[in-house]
This record gives sequence, structure tokens and C-alpha cells, in this order.
Amino acid sequence: MSKKLLSVLLSTAMVAALLVGCGNSAAEEPAAATEEAAPAEEAPAEEEAAPAEDAAEAPAAAAGTKVGVSMPTKDLQRWNQDGANMQSELEAAGYEVDLQYANNEPQTQVSQIENMISNGANVLVIAAIEASSLGEALDMAKAANIPVIAYDRLIMNSDAVSYYATFDNYKVGVTQGQYIVDTLDLDNAEGPFNLEVTAGDPGDNNAPFFYNGAMDTLKPYIESGKLVVKSGQTEFEEVGTPQWKTETAQSRADNIISSFYADGTNIDVWLCSNDSTALGVETALANSYNGEYPIVTGQDCDIENTKNMIAGKQSMSVFKDTRTLASQVVKMVGQILNGEEVEVNDTETYDNGTGVIPSFLCEPVFADANNYKELLIDSGYYTEDQLK
Ligand code: GAL
Repeated sequence: MSKKLLSVLLSTAMVAALLVGCGNSAAEEPAAATEEAAPAEEAPAEEEAAPAEDAAEAPAAAAGTKVGVSMPTKDLQRWNQDGANMQSELEAAGYEVDLQYANNEPQTQVSQIENMISNGANVLVIAAIEASSLGEALDMAKAANIPVIAYDRLIMNSDAVSYYATFDNYKVGVTQGQYIVDTLDLDNAEGPFNLEVTAGDPGDNNAPFFYNGAMDTLKPYIESGKLVVKSGQTEFEEVGTPQWKTETAQSRADNIISSFYADGTNIDVWLCSNDSTALGVETALANSYNGEYPIVTGQDCDIENTKNMIAGKQSMSVFKDTRTLASQVVKMVGQILNGEEVEVNDTETYDNGTGVIPSFLCEPVFADANNYKELLIDSGYYTEDQLK
């Protein structure tokens, strides 16, 4: 606890000096794609991400040091990339890695983390399935003095969490909302335009950040009547998608289309918090919608969704380069193990119920059919073949 406090104090002073990770992306940069925001050009296609320089220079002390990496599921593309990047970068830095996927079952994740602890993990990196379901395992980590880094998703209500590394989640939502404002030219166009909303998993602490970022941006236009939500479903509780499941998003979209748009009324825009939910909405639109194809938002630049962007079935996504996050976390692991100051750039936003968790927020980047080549192919994130 005192370590956390010390870190908060020190890191506040160091924020300005330490923005060297995550592609040098300062939190103030615009969401639009920029060259610096694009991932490193040298990263070769099809190969595992090259280790970050700092990680490669990690101490010889890394030998024999174990890092447990707990990922939520293999079902969603991004977590496979996150896990693979973490593993290759940690191994390149000399650590032993225990990487586990928990099949989206919170209890499985608890047992896997407990096993990592029993097997001698020195640090734990956890992307939680549910923000508040890891209690026993985290108590065990705390009792064993094992530092925990919450990866991408904040773990709630546990003082075992030392640090948090993620992308700026609120900004992801703002990027989606602002895209809608700009594309429909809401400040000038007469409208009204029909909007529907699909959000993420209520059990994932990120989901309300995405939703709030987008809805705070759109709210003035909903209130003025320029955006109309025919289903009437706008509250987070009404529009959430448990476990971010594509099928669940699809069946809710099927219902909305048949109940409110069956007569061919246009849906002008469908705000989707991420790509897995957007995919469900896109399938529902393909199956049963007869109006003009709407603006559809997303997040993650998953392969299927990038193909849909190229085909004009999804308007935008938000690119969160998993290599960048992995590099940052590997750097944090090294800093923790060496007793060095841990690099963070946010000490205000993420209170997990036990206090603010010192965080490093990477920069999300706007992506669409115009810049995907530069962002995803030129950077080696995907090959051209993967997007065919
Ligand atoms: C979120 C994550 C997103 C998205 C979603 C579904 O926590 O930040 O990138 O992938 O989960 O897995």
C-alpha cells in the first residue's frame, strides 16, 4: 500500500519526463492517425512482435524470474495477439512465462492464477474476465507479496493491484462519438438521424468508459432531437452485451431491426463499442435490414472487421496496437523487479475502489478504410493476405 502511495507521488512528478513508451504518444495527442501513433515500421510481417528495446536490455536478473500472464479468452482475436506478444517479449527479455487463457470463465481464471502463484510466479499480469471476480486469487497474491499489473482491464475492489496498463478507454469512445458527429455533420445537417447503440460487457470495467466517451459526445444531439433512438434503449444497462459476445449483439440487433425498422425506415448510425459487437450488428443488418446501410463503429481492428471496413460494411474502428501495450507492460515488469520507478502517465482516472491505481494509458488510434494500410499492413500488424 505504501509502495503504491510512494509510486503515485513520485510518478506525478515524473509524468512529463517519462512519456517515452507507447510510441511516444502523449495523452494530449489527437485521436486521428498520426505517423508517431502508427506502430514501428520495422516490425516484420507474420513474425512475433519484436521485443521493445528496453525489454531486450532487461537485466540478467530476469533469468529464473517467472511472470504469470492470465488472459481472458482465446475466442476474441485481440487476446491471442496480446498473449503472444507478451510471451515473446517477456521471453526475449529473459523471463520464464506462464501464459494461460481462461475460456471466459471467471472461476477458471481464479484457479489458473492460483496455480501461477503456487508455481512461483514473481509478477502477475492479468486481463480480468470480470472486474470483481478474482478476489481469492488476488488475496493469495497479496499474501505472497506478488505484484499484480492489471492488463487492459482494471481489476476492481482489490488492493493487491499495483499498476494498470491500458489504452485510454474514454478516448476510444470519444473517437467513435466524434466520428459520428463529423460524418453526419451534426452541427449543420438538419436531421433527424436514427441512432442505435450497442455497448460492451457490464462485467468489464472498460465497457462504461467506452460507452461514456461516446455518449457524452453524442448526448447534446440526442437531447436536441437531432439523433433519435427509435428503440428507446440508450442506458448502459439496456444496451450492454455480456462477455462482448457477437451472437448476443446480433440477436439484440435482430430484435431492434424487426421491431422498429421493418418498414424500411433508415438506421443512420449504429454505435458499437467494439468489433466483436459490431460484427453481430453487421450480420443482423445483412440478414434483415432493408434501409440504407448505416454508419457502424467499432474498436480493435480485428481481421473480420477490417475486411468489413474495406468492403464498406463497417465505417471505422479504433486501433489499439497490442504490441505497444505488451512492450509497455514488459517494461513495467522489469521496473518492478528491479525496484525502479515504474513509468506511469495517469494517476487520477482509475480508482478501483481501494484507491487510484497508477496507470499507463497508451494512445488509441482512429482507423478506417483510408488509413488501414498504413496502420495495419505497413506496420507489420497484419499481412495483406490476412485481410483478403
Ligand atoms: C475490452 C477491450 C477491448 C475489447 C473488449 C472485448 O476490455 O479493451 O479492446 O476487445 O474487451 O474483448
